[in-house]
Amino acid sequence: MKKFVITLLMALAPMTASAAGGTVPLDSFEGDLTDKASLQRGMQTFVNRCMGCHEAGYQRFERSAQDLGIPNELVEQYLIFDPEIKIGQHMTNAMPTDSAAGWFGAPPPDLTLEARLRGPDWVYTYLRSFYQDETRPWGVNNVVFPSVGMPNVLEDLQGKVVNHCTPEELAHGHDEIDPLTGKTMGGCLVIDEAGSQSVEEFDKTVYDLVNFMTYMAEPSRLESESLGTKVLIFLAILFVFAFALKKEYWKDVH
Ligand code: HEC
Repeated sequence: MKKFVITLLMALAPMTASAAGGTVPLDSFEGDLTDKASLQRGMQTFVNRCMGCHEAGYQRFERSAQDLGIPNELVEQYLIFDPEIKIGQHMTNAMPTDSAAGWFGAPPPDLTLEARLRGPDWVYTYLRSFYQDETRPWGVNNVVFPSVGMPNVLEDLQGKVVNHCTPEELAHGHDEIDPLTGKTMGGCLVIDEAGSQSVEEFDKTVYDLVNFMTYMAEPSRLESESLGTKVLIFLAILFVFAFALKKEYWKDVH
């Protein structure tokens, strides 16, 4: 059995932030909304792995397709499973909220704005922080969301993570970083049974997913950024004319 030490908490994170109500240090997430390939992979993971339970009820399939540069036919063919749902509709599912609350203890919340609600750092850390815990109904617990009601839906990719941490280590993460390698020293959360992806591949899968969730939480951000640049260029050009005009007006005064 191959054992990987996961560079889970704080691997490359010089900056830390606190989870809501907790003090567990979070891995920092630097998204890239211009990386269309990453956003497309993220959407694919989101639709395949998350939408069975969660909705993105404020986002339409078509809007995502347009912004991410995916042809509508491909979205219809591969990303919409319910023949009743048209591409112009919201990204919803058929899970009844009341029963879901009974099954999981809490209903799976809508995730459209999740990356803004909790912050991308939190979501990125959360999805990589599940570990085996037989006392929980789904056999897993989570470092940043203790007693979580969600199963580890990415376990087949990540593998089974076993917890060898003391409660204290778990509460504080292991934020002692080796200054030479930038990697976490020690490491008490260990992948005991490998999944289908390596640690790096899995981090990348979750990176793409959270990148997509960050886009979804503010779909107009890309547009605003490019518009902002254009406005600044316009103002710079306007300044030249305004300045020339000012000189013209004042030339007889002095
Ligand atoms: C089998 C159903 C199921 C699937 C599939 C699922 N989740 Fe969840 N998820 C839940 C439930 C239930 C909760 C509520 C947990 C709680 O409050 O204890 C939850 C909670 C969450 C939360 C925390 C919400 C908050 O702020 O309180 C996030 C983030 C999340 N899920 C992301 C995802 C992502 C991303 C995926 C896809 C990779 C996914 N989930 C797949 C059931 C699911």
